[in-house]
Amino acid sequence: MMDRRAPASTRAVLVDEALASYDMENWVDRISVMQYTILGRTGLKVSVAGLGCGGFSRLGRGTGRSEAEAVALVCQAHDLGVNLFDTAAAYGTESVVGRAIKSVPRESVVIATKALVPPGESRSAADRAVQSLDDSLRQLGTDYIDIFQLHGVAPGAYDEARDIIAPALLREREKGKIRFLGVTEFVDPEHEMVRRAVEDGVWDTVMVAFHMLHQNASAKVFPLTMANRIGTLLMFVVRNIFSKPERLAAALRERTASGELPRRLADAPNPLGFLIHERGARTIAEAAYRFVRHEPGVDVVLFGTGDPQHLRENVAALLAPPLPLADRQTLTKLFGHLIGVGLDT
Ligand SMILES: NC(=O)c1ccc[n+]([C@@H]2O[C@H](COP(=O)([O-])OP(=O)(O)OC[C@H]3O[C@@H](n4cnc5c(N)ncnc54)[C@H](OP(=O)(O)O)[C@@H]3O)[C@@H](O)[C@H]2O)c1
Repeated sequence: MMDRRAPASTRAVLVDEALASYDMENWVDRISVMQYTILGRTGLKVSVAGLGCGGFSRLGRGTGRSEAEAVALVCQAHDLGVNLFDTAAAYGTESVVGRAIKSVPRESVVIATKALVPPGESRSAADRAVQSLDDSLRQLGTDYIDIFQLHGVAPGAYDEARDIIAPALLREREKGKIRFLGVTEFVDPEHEMVRRAVEDGVWDTVMVAFHMLHQNASAKVFPLTMANRIGTLLMFVVRNIFSKPERLAAALRERTASGELPRRLADAPNPLGFLIHERGARTIAEAAYRFVRHEPGVDVVLFGTGDPQHLRENVAALLAPPLPLADRQTLTKLFGHLIGVGLDT
């Protein structure tokens, strides 16, 4: 098993050890065997693949699919061994998750949801967060939330989150409504908010943006979460940038214009084509999920989809070996210095 406390300098070696333990010929056939990990100090046993119930897909509700199809998608994920579901009051999918989990033992799933507490409304932020918690319990049809998170906390809102909202939520925790408390980033390219949160002893989990063209969490966040035993959930791994070729092309044009990337990347018809080969990935989305999954310090990779075929592919990608070493080295050399690419909301 990989040593999660290892310093960054030994990461490449550790990822290669993980690679050596895979049966490279047969991994595709083993997608039914979910892998689980312990989510930091929560001690919760969670699947390494977590179903994101928000993003642009919102389980398909954002792309025109019915509520019944969305419920079926959650059940499909559960059948494949996914036990962590990340939703939010703002997504409008809590009731979908609630309907889907009715048919399974409550303790077999880890439900993460979130309260959005924008500043500037008349009632206190703490009251609004507690009201949101009570609404979430109703929407989900459950007595408790496993991980209750504050949603998209900007660095400037962090003091209020820690000093006013968290104490109120911890009182609700004493009543049994919450098991663990978490916080999620807003667009925060330097991870300012999370880097403070992991040291404060209040939050059990953090949700962080990390992907092939925005890699700085590996140096700025994961060493801190590992040292403090904070569980990590990844967001933005594919998003638009790796699911819509025109969005990737636009991001590369922007960063070549600013001199951060070689010009040839903006002109290439398939700029990440080097990742697609027999020993590598079959699609860019697969490469994106495999790239992040084996990073030391990453616990759960959230994937958002409304498409049953994508769901199967994404679970398979997250259970697949790391990308080949040469591909990982190329991604780090080409893009390791970029910050804040593709964080669209
Ligand atoms: N601040 C926050 O708290 C915050 C912010 C962002 C996200 N999140 C959480 O993180 C989760 C993941 O969000 P994300 O939007 O960043 O998800 P993602 O998994 O990075 O990307 C999802 C997008 O990629 C498409 N896609 C998924 N699998 C694909 C595949 N195999 N091939 C091609 N396209 C594919 C999806 O469309 P299809 O429906 O067509 O598959 C969707 O548009 C969210 O659901 C949410 O739970 C939290």
